[in-house]
Amino acid sequence: MRLVLFGPPMAGKGTQASMLAEKLGLLHIAMGDLLREAVAANTSLGRKAKKYMDEGALVPDAIVIGLVEGKMKTSNSEAGFILDGFPRTVEQAEQLEQFTDIDLVLSIDLPFDRLVERSTGRRVCRKCGAVYHIDFKPPRKPEVCDRCGGSLYRRDDDKESVVRERLRAYEAQTQPVINYYDLRRKLKFVDGDKSIEEVGMRLLEAIFDKWPELEVKVAKAEAARKAAGEQKPPKKEAIPGIKTRRQQGRGRRGSPRDRKKKAGGQPQKKPRHRPKKKK
Ligand code: AP5
Repeated sequence: MRLVLFGPPMAGKGTQASMLAEKLGLLHIAMGDLLREAVAANTSLGRKAKKYMDEGALVPDAIVIGLVEGKMKTSNSEAGFILDGFPRTVEQAEQLEQFTDIDLVLSIDLPFDRLVERSTGRRVCRKCGAVYHIDFKPPRKPEVCDRCGGSLYRRDDDKESVVRERLRAYEAQTQPVINYYDLRRKLKFVDGDKSIEEVGMRLLEAIFDKWPELEVKVAKAEAARKAAGEQKPPKKEAIPGIKTRRQQGRGRRGSPRDRKKKAGGQPQKKPRHRPKKKK
């Protein structure tokens, strides 16, 4: 299964792509994440891309095509993949066709004013990249990632002025890609102006339309996952009012980590018991 998730900035591509990838066992390739990784690693490609990303413009085709091709070659995409944020120009779509076929393009649609509204509340985990929204998908603890405990931040390009620039780039350079896939009868639209769960369901429906045999498989896998979750052994009863050492943040009693801490960073040897010498 080779999918493209298409749509304007903030449409929910990343949110939905990671859920679909998990449900369908696909490799999730997010172009924005690949570029941000290159920027964070300060590679020469990252330094070139940053200039464009900060302005809300598209990074040149040659850079992004090389990145996505490299990712596909080095990752296991045998079961299939889902491309999120690629292709964004007709040139990118044509080049993609040179190294792989695409089965289905799902375009998430919603009005532009809703997109700007979403950008102000988006928060992203620094560590694992999970995406939240302070109103529509809040983390359990403010500013802390539910999945890995990493801290959440606001993306630099989520400033309103940059978001408007990204929307302009989308209209001018990315919208023509819709026509490209429509002509090839690979395009389906999904209404993105619904709750995250509902958009997810509609995307799955569009996928099952094309691969009806998958519906039963996914339902069975979902039921098995739920059952496994329910069968987890109940946690040990804590003594009411008494905190464990771990809850107090002290680690295990007498653990090497504990002893190291006490010794100011140096592992401390356990005091050896020496029998008293007989006089
Ligand atoms: P990229 O990171 O791909 O940005 P984008 O396409 O602008 O998309 P976003 O990540 O902003 O939004 P999304 O659609 O993934 O929405 P999300 O799920 O996060 O690219 C960044 C930059 O890299 C580009 O500007 C460009 O410079 C460069 N670039 C990338 N690809 C390129 C390419 N192919 N060619 C050239 N340059 C490229 O959701 C948004 C928010 O809404 C979240 O807070 C989420 O929780 C919330 N949300 C999601 N769904 C819902 C819902 N149904 N209801 C309410 N809230 C929702």
